[in-house]
Amino acid sequence: MPAASTERFSLEVLPVPADDFAASVRAGLTAPRKVLEPRFFYDALGSALFDAICELPEYYVTRAETEVLTIHAAEIAAALGGPLRIVELGSGTARKTRILLDAILARQRTLDYAPLDVDAGMLEKVGNALLGEYEGIRVMALRGDFRDPARAIATLPPTHDRTVILFLGSSIGNLDPSEAAAMLRNLRSAMRKGDALFLGVDLRKSKSVLEPAYDDALGVTASFNLNLLQRINRELGGHFDLARFAHRALYDETLGRIEMHLVSRGAQTVRIADYEVKFADGETIHTESSWKYDDASLAALAAEAGLTVERKWVDGREWFADVLLTASA
Ligand code: AVJ
Repeated sequence: MPAASTERFSLEVLPVPADDFAASVRAGLTAPRKVLEPRFFYDALGSALFDAICELPEYYVTRAETEVLTIHAAEIAAALGGPLRIVELGSGTARKTRILLDAILARQRTLDYAPLDVDAGMLEKVGNALLGEYEGIRVMALRGDFRDPARAIATLPPTHDRTVILFLGSSIGNLDPSEAAAMLRNLRSAMRKGDALFLGVDLRKSKSVLEPAYDDALGVTASFNLNLLQRINRELGGHFDLARFAHRALYDETLGRIEMHLVSRGAQTVRIADYEVKFADGETIHTESSWKYDDASLAALAAEAGLTVERKWVDGREWFADVLLTASA
């Protein structure tokens, strides 16, 4: 039963794993190689900083995907076919989604749109805005964890329409290839014949483009990274001195991934509530990996999940791709 519903808007609150921030931080900071999970970047300030990142001249990712969607919108909508309904994983502000909604609603009169996000407040806000912008839209918001998409999709009413799942913005890039494959397998289990996944992936490119994109001159990405320590201080009783950690972004060309770290300036001990964490000078906390794909690694990922890349659209510089995947025969 939807927790809140009007005729054109409903919100389904799915069980999400208990708030495990404290447990994850403790496990990550007491491991031999210190690590924090990037999904914890996105508190209110972190989300605002990420929005700012998307405006940075160095951070091409959002603009490149917007270009892909804008230039190819009609062709993408035609390839998606229809009549269809949309499920969007990690919908956020759904800014880029509107480009596709415009193109889809030029081909069908009504559309069921099911955004899945962890932030119920955001879902209400964005859902209501969309109702005003699109006469033909019905929003079936899902509050949940996008790492278990099958569970969310299972709560939607049965339909004869094709379900197209959107996973935009290179969000999949935060998952290691094995985790990404597991997530896509989970998603594949919820896809019926004719359903498709429309996935945004960032492409491999020169280090000289990638590293500044994750270490900008204004220091916004550095703040985004350091905010994780601030969040630990605020929410978990941490005592990090932010001035004693430096932001670092490195591209590993062999793996095809950007790594973000926080580097200890000097040896130090930091107390977090009832435990202490020791840092050697120069020791790092690995806070994020952002995986970049090429045709081969993307095909391998798809194959592992029982999916096939049907179509690919890229921007003019071939920096970003949106791909259409369907279940392999
Ligand atoms: C939201 C995961 C797509 O990896 O590019 C931006 C996050 N981290 N700058 C990315 C991010 C640093 C972003 N994703």
